[in-house]
Amino acid sequence: MSNLNPHSEVFQPVIEIEGRATLKGEVRISGAKNSALAIMAGTLLCADECRLSNLPNLTDIHSMSQILGAIGVKLKRLGDALEIDGRNVANAQAPYELVSQLRASFFVIGPLLARFGHTEVPLPGGCAIGARPVELHVRGLQALGAEVRIESGVVHASVRGNRQRLTGAKIYLDYPSVGATETIMMAATLAEGETRIENAAKEPEIVDLANFCRSMGAKIHGDGTDTIYINGVERLHTTDFPIIPDRIEAGTFLCAGAITHSEISLYPVIPEHLAAATAKLQEIGPKVIVEDRDRVRLIPAPLRGTDIETLPFPGFPTDMQAQFMALLAVSEGNSVITETVFENRLQHVAELQRMGANIKLKGNVAVIQGVPLLSGAPVMSTDLRASAALVIAGLAAEGTTIVQGLRHLDRGYEDIEGKLRQLGAKLRRVEQGVPLTPFGELSLTGQNA
Ligand code: UD1
Repeated sequence: MSNLNPHSEVFQPVIEIEGRATLKGEVRISGAKNSALAIMAGTLLCADECRLSNLPNLTDIHSMSQILGAIGVKLKRLGDALEIDGRNVANAQAPYELVSQLRASFFVIGPLLARFGHTEVPLPGGCAIGARPVELHVRGLQALGAEVRIESGVVHASVRGNRQRLTGAKIYLDYPSVGATETIMMAATLAEGETRIENAAKEPEIVDLANFCRSMGAKIHGDGTDTIYINGVERLHTTDFPIIPDRIEAGTFLCAGAITHSEISLYPVIPEHLAAATAKLQEIGPKVIVEDRDRVRLIPAPLRGTDIETLPFPGFPTDMQAQFMALLAVSEGNSVITETVFENRLQHVAELQRMGANIKLKGNVAVIQGVPLLSGAPVMSTDLRASAALVIAGLAAEGTTIVQGLRHLDRGYEDIEGKLRQLGAKLRRVEQGVPLTPFGELSLTGQNA
């Protein structure tokens, strides 16, 4: 009856949560994962040393570091900073085993092509939340003068003809893809002439990447609006750049506070980046007060249902959809969540149902009838944000919740159980029946990532 395969999910660590604790205090928000990943790829544009700070300690960041290392970049991690020396990069090829583990690693294609005139990057493949194709990235690079062919799952890109550099172009994106906007923006920084990206993504991570590129001497304006203009330069120089706080981690803690009826504050944050999540929370009941330029406080209130549709920024982020579903599962009345960004991002519904949530699913629409209380259960994470939703649900549930599949959680949340425990939650990480961290004490920060 026992499963003896040591790699099986049953032998992997789990998080055990004793529900119904009240949270209190302040939580420190880490650097933004999605910004950090794009900016780490962007350091390949610079034929010099760069330093990034406020990097979160996450498995995704380690994977991206490994990819840069495999390309020939020298890296040195010092606390939350990373020194990146790309001066001696000789190999413009990204290795398949690493790229297949992390979609964002495909973003190295733009910088490598722009700096070396050629590159080979494997297709990132599918992922749990949908097919996630890259044709918008590829079409953008072709418009900038790249010859692109896909052979045996590898994208081979080189500057067309006898030219050394890409050439600026006007590019209209059929959809404001975050990744495609980043790929094109990075490639265009070293192209000859002006590039204009229309229907560009407007996410704060795009602006952070543009700020990073500008700090190296790139000429970019319009980022954060529909149209981004980039005037190519010949060379970019060294920089020392801090990553913005993670708005999705912040939103996740706001949901944790709201579902446990707790007053908590979050620092550092950029309150404008939280506008869509804050507005929805206020419809649900709790208030979010901006206390300082970079601190917000959540004031709890009874929870009532509302409707949510995920959209590109400044709309409600798809990366917050699962966490809000956990919250709406215990909010009085009916709620409707419509997922429009990814085609398969509602797999957490089945797990929330196991905890007693009343949710009906039709295609990409979830209809939620709030219940007074969830009950603890063993549940399995299906993707990164789904795993956070299960932790949030477990905090409010009666009894013990055991969250499995932590490799998803560790991709995007730095020491989430340590941070929650510091706020008073009762949860611990357990491996093969042995607690790795005790209830009610601080964990070894960063050991989990
Ligand atoms: C980024 C974020 C991810 C977030 C998403 C949407 C990173 C590392 N990840 O992902 O957390 O959920 O933005 O806010 O920053 N699409 C195409 N063709 C393409 C590119 C995208 O059809 O060439 C589609 C995707 O399949 C998806 C939609 O566009 O349905 C949005 O994807 P995109 O904005 O590109 O997301 P990512 O950059 O992959």
